Amino acid sequence: MARILLGVSGGIAAYKACELVRLLVKGGHEVVPLVTPGAERFVRAETFFALARRSPAEDLYVHLTQADLLVVAPLTANTLAKLAGGHADNLVAEAALAHRGPLLLAPAMNPRMWAHPATQANVEAVRLRGAVLVGPDEGETAEGEWGLGRMAEPEQIVARCRELLGETDSLAGRRVLVSAGGTREPLDAVRFLGNRSSGRMGVALAAEARKRGADVTLLAANLSLAPPAGVDVVETPTAETLLDAALARRDADLVLMAAAVADYRPAERLETKLPKDQQAWHLDLEPTADVLQSLGERRTNGQVLVGFAAETGVEGLARAREKLERKRVDLVVYNDVSRSDIGFDADENEVVLVTASGEQRVAKAPKERIAAAIVDTAEELLRERAR
Ligand code: CTP
Repeated sequence: MARILLGVSGGIAAYKACELVRLLVKGGHEVVPLVTPGAERFVRAETFFALARRSPAEDLYVHLTQADLLVVAPLTANTLAKLAGGHADNLVAEAALAHRGPLLLAPAMNPRMWAHPATQANVEAVRLRGAVLVGPDEGETAEGEWGLGRMAEPEQIVARCRELLGETDSLAGRRVLVSAGGTREPLDAVRFLGNRSSGRMGVALAAEARKRGADVTLLAANLSLAPPAGVDVVETPTAETLLDAALARRDADLVLMAAAVADYRPAERLETKLPKDQQAWHLDLEPTADVLQSLGERRTNGQVLVGFAAETGVEGLARAREKLERKRVDLVVYNDVSRSDIGFDADENEVVLVTASGEQRVAKAPKERIAAAIVDTAEELLRERAR
């Protein structure tokens, strides 16, 4: 789901950072460990890499890895001072300077060191620049003193990570089926009939549903980008494979059909490559089955079906409304494909959400934000069904 840089600095609590890596990986995140030499005195870097399921970094610029979140756990008094002062003399301090995005710090140190005005001034300095602190907790430290200084428990740190990444449990326990990309219908051994869909909208929807705790299956039709982590991916290159895979999962609570599925396919597929000659090549195209409509006909109680309408102009919006009834779906996402700045193969989109109760225009925004608006409406519809 998200890529998290995990800085581990040199304190005894480094052993608890192992559990933190395990929990983050279990939650579907990609974890990039940044282990300082001080931390290696307690736990070998290999342990973190093994738990993160990565090979030990040979990347010279690992501290420059772009990530959604930087967590430093444990954060020692020394590394905190480096962050406050803007130093760049270890991997974690360098990463903190290079990182753009939320920074979560889990201090761990002796209670007298924590209470020292120098440390408190450093805390204030990093807080003013937007860092979020989790802990330290009160309790007995490794050296047997009592006070504020224990690193927060890994579960508590994970909860703060989820908050900072915008994760919720609003779709926990729900099965969500998403299709993305564009199908390719083979003409011969090497040629196909396809379309310009990149899969970005569907991938953003799958990531959003996963972020909200859903159990997500992504039907991937020739994606031009990587699927999000933490979702089950089923390759569905053609309209037929997509139909079969969708029908096999027709009991999903929510279906988001963002893929551009071919409406026609060549009636005949040549097994070998057709050699070039001077003759025209006449194709016979036959209609494919409509996946969304097939699901609509078999819908189960409480299920919410969402379709996309790739149309052009004002008449397109009227056709989107008509699609709502014809395909027996709950929400149609209208998308004007005549514009080159949005929709097909673009990073941004601007859509109208059409439901039986009305229309909601969603202003032009990155596809991730559009995905959040679509899933918000789908969640409302799921709640309505449950009533
Ligand atoms: N769709 C589908 N199966 C198909 C074709 C389309 O499930 N064989 C789905 C798409 O994933 C999309 C919705 O139907 O969610 C609308 O697709 P679109 O091509 O815009 O509409 P059509 O149903 O093909 O309607 P039209 O007659 O306007 O082409």
